[in-house]
Amino acid sequence: MVTFRVPPGPLRADTTVPGDKSLSHRALILAAMAAGVSRVAGAGPGDDVSTTRRALGRLGVAFDRDLVSSPGVDAWTAPSAPIDAGNSATTLRLLVGALAGRPYPATLVRDASLMRRPMGRLVAPLAALGAAVEVGPGGGPPVTVGGGALHGADISVPMPSAQVRSACALAALQAAGRSTITSPPGFRDHTERWLEAMGLGRRLSEVSFQVLPGLVVPGVWEVPGDLSSASFLLAAAALRPGSEVTVRSVTLNPGRTGFLDILEAAGARVELRATGLTRGDPVGDVTVVGEELRPVRVAGALAVRALDELLLVAVLGAATTGETVISGAAELRAKETDRAAAAVRLVRSLGGEAAEVPDGFTVRGRGGLAGGEIDAGGDHRLAMAAAIAAVISPGGVTVRGFEAAAVSWPGFAESLEALWS
Ligand code: S3P
Repeated sequence: MVTFRVPPGPLRADTTVPGDKSLSHRALILAAMAAGVSRVAGAGPGDDVSTTRRALGRLGVAFDRDLVSSPGVDAWTAPSAPIDAGNSATTLRLLVGALAGRPYPATLVRDASLMRRPMGRLVAPLAALGAAVEVGPGGGPPVTVGGGALHGADISVPMPSAQVRSACALAALQAAGRSTITSPPGFRDHTERWLEAMGLGRRLSEVSFQVLPGLVVPGVWEVPGDLSSASFLLAAAALRPGSEVTVRSVTLNPGRTGFLDILEAAGARVELRATGLTRGDPVGDVTVVGEELRPVRVAGALAVRALDELLLVAVLGAATTGETVISGAAELRAKETDRAAAAVRLVRSLGGEAAEVPDGFTVRGRGGLAGGEIDAGGDHRLAMAAAIAAVISPGGVTVRGFEAAAVSWPGFAESLEALWS
């Protein structure tokens, strides 16, 4: 249990955040698919990323600091027992894709938080490639995959899920013949950009990507900072007029910047400076200056592009006077917790007014929150969003189970406190 009290006055920082979680999983898995020694520089320190390393270790991949040594996906060791994906749906879904073309079956299991996360969404897209995928009763883990040769296919993914698209892409790399992957828009296209930079695919349109089968070659993967982690510090600046926070060298993939668009729509000043590309994926610095905030409406592809940050939008909404409405975000209910319910619980536990709608939530802002206590329920983003709510809660915020933050950012509390010390 940790209590956050944020002293009055502007918040300031010019800082960096740990390596991006989405890109860390992808870099480790792609490096593990290559035969030889690769380097993954700047991978995130969170528990989920460690889970991916451990899972790949079960397949015969060795790690020494940032070096990854692998016999290559074709020579991965058949796992003798189920592989544990812990809390990480990304680990589970991406590895199911990478394993889909292996001549042996592999089973992936998860911890209690992943129990209720939908895995059935992998079945039809991977079946289009000829892969056999079986999910547990109720559509969750355990997931068993593999045992067959794959062929190219036109794959239609019904939801804008980067995890499902990436699973398909990693499988399609191992298929005989080209594949295309199409889904609704808004997804983060990290995997597609990296495959294109390696000559293993090409973008056909905003929503369609063609995978050109082939071998991933060993190399260096540079992982930029995590914009989702940075968003907590940027939100703190937005919530306190006169504050200014800069976070440097974070991913600026368009599928990740929805929260910055929302901050701008809410009245904060937001400045993006692109500084380069990592294998075709944009990286840059972000500055947010706090101003008076107004309520926002978030829907459609914007909701997808901000999905992991919508708990923070609930806090922004509570700081305004008026109604903030989030719709088109039914996927919130399939995250570490049901995050539509969690957003409402967060605001109400701290004295505010909020309600669920089937595909999102609404917040009636009253210019701030009183403060109080909330249980993170094992959700790292809820733990950190609650801490950020302390910026607008004069009574302070106590977070039970705050240790869940370590799933993505073990040093979060220290970075938050540095904003006012
Ligand atoms: C992720 C994709 C998103 C996101 C998750 C990480 C990824 O999920 O919410 O935190 O790394 O591909 P979906 O692809 O299921 O929408």
